[in-house]
Amino acid sequence: MPAPRALTEDEIGDIVARFAATAELVELAGFDGVQIHAAHGYLISQFLSPLSNLRTDRWGGDIENRARILFDIIAAIRTAVRPAFGVGVKINSADFQRGGFTEHESRAVITRLAEAGVDLIEISGGSYESPAMMGRPVASNSSSQREAYFLDYTRTVRDLVGDIPLAVTGGFRTRTGMSEALASDTCDVVGVGRPAAIAPQLAQSLLDDSTDTLERRAVKLPVPRRLAHVSTVKSLEGLLDLQWHTDQLHELGAGRTPDVSRPTWRTLATIVQRNGLGALKPTQRRVTASSSKRGARKFAVERLVGKYIANPTVLALNRIGLSTSYATDLSTTGRRSGTERVVPVAASFDQTGAWIISQHGLKAGWARNISADPRVRIRQGQRWRSGIAEFRPEDDVSTRAAGFATSRLAAPLIVSGFRALQTDPISVRITFTE
Ligand SMILES: Cc1cc2nc3c(=O)[nH]c(=O)nc-3n(C[C@H](O)[C@H](O)[C@H](O)COP(=O)(O)O)c2cc1C
Repeated sequence: MPAPRALTEDEIGDIVARFAATAELVELAGFDGVQIHAAHGYLISQFLSPLSNLRTDRWGGDIENRARILFDIIAAIRTAVRPAFGVGVKINSADFQRGGFTEHESRAVITRLAEAGVDLIEISGGSYESPAMMGRPVASNSSSQREAYFLDYTRTVRDLVGDIPLAVTGGFRTRTGMSEALASDTCDVVGVGRPAAIAPQLAQSLLDDSTDTLERRAVKLPVPRRLAHVSTVKSLEGLLDLQWHTDQLHELGAGRTPDVSRPTWRTLATIVQRNGLGALKPTQRRVTASSSKRGARKFAVERLVGKYIANPTVLALNRIGLSTSYATDLSTTGRRSGTERVVPVAASFDQTGAWIISQHGLKAGWARNISADPRVRIRQGQRWRSGIAEFRPEDDVSTRAAGFATSRLAAPLIVSGFRALQTDPISVRITFTE
């Protein structure tokens, strides 16, 4: 994803008007209401969060200013639709990020939502960067609290909302848990996401008592356990979990039954095929100060992404014959071990040699091997070619990357892939020696 930029005043006004126009259309189409999504890191939630909202005008700063767009949208919708048309809001309990939207701020916004007379408030939490909505541990003796992620918080807003119905989504897996949450008057509506993607009839089967526990598939990345709590891994797992269930919705949409045995690598391949390798990259933040520590961290994170996610994904795509004919193997000599080291690289071949790009400049292990010994071998199709590698810092890496595409369709995938994974890219020319 490109680095975000601030909207202009006109653009904000236009977005508010579009929300109202959409609600009007939805009403015309026969629906009874709309829900404004102010959670999960989407636009309104970005306005609410001090981590992403760095504005110094009337749309940024204190929580009143950060929430302005939400209340302008509600007001604009109300004037566009009939009075009985429902307007709900989905809001985060918190962002679950240091320096983000807090529970305290969330309560302040919810109090104002109640004053504004919205028709439903749904509580969730997190974003794609910190996907609390896709799962977070809750320790409790009660079933409902053990399984549902945001009940504790919801209890703290019950008295603030008067008789406006409260919905909670995230984690509910048993009839007992759902019944407890409703019976304790913590919430009025229970939302269920992932289980419904593999069992679309589950609401009915809960109501007619034929189901007690919902089926759930844990979608995990194939990474070592010690990395399971690294925030990048957690956010990629959230993305993968979401995509795996989206794949199931596509199955249902195509009139087929959900495929619960769908392997994780196939979902990873789908993410890259649809969005480019950039989808696997941590979100870019506007950088306010540079530091070598941050650069080192970026390098470490992106090397992990490359090693455990991007490279296996490229190989998986290759296995199923998807547009990555630019992916090949490079063999260098280990500068310490003296043994052969083979790494997957993207290459573009010509008569006398090949171009490759070292995404991490001279820091990549194989680039350091080349500095120590420039004799390399590179696989061209089925054939291994010997050559001498040299760094070409004067070469324009972006133009070079675009030239790697074997088809016009593959070009954006390749360019975004390079952009996603590079920290300090440098072109490398390999000249064949035979
Ligand atoms: C395939 C998929 C699509 C989703 N789409 C939305 C969405 O459009 N809006 C939204 O607020 N949440 C969306 N979510 C998040 C769910 O509403 C819910 O917060 C999350 O799945 C946790 O609930 P669960 O534990 O019952 O799955 C989606 C989740 C999945 C798995």
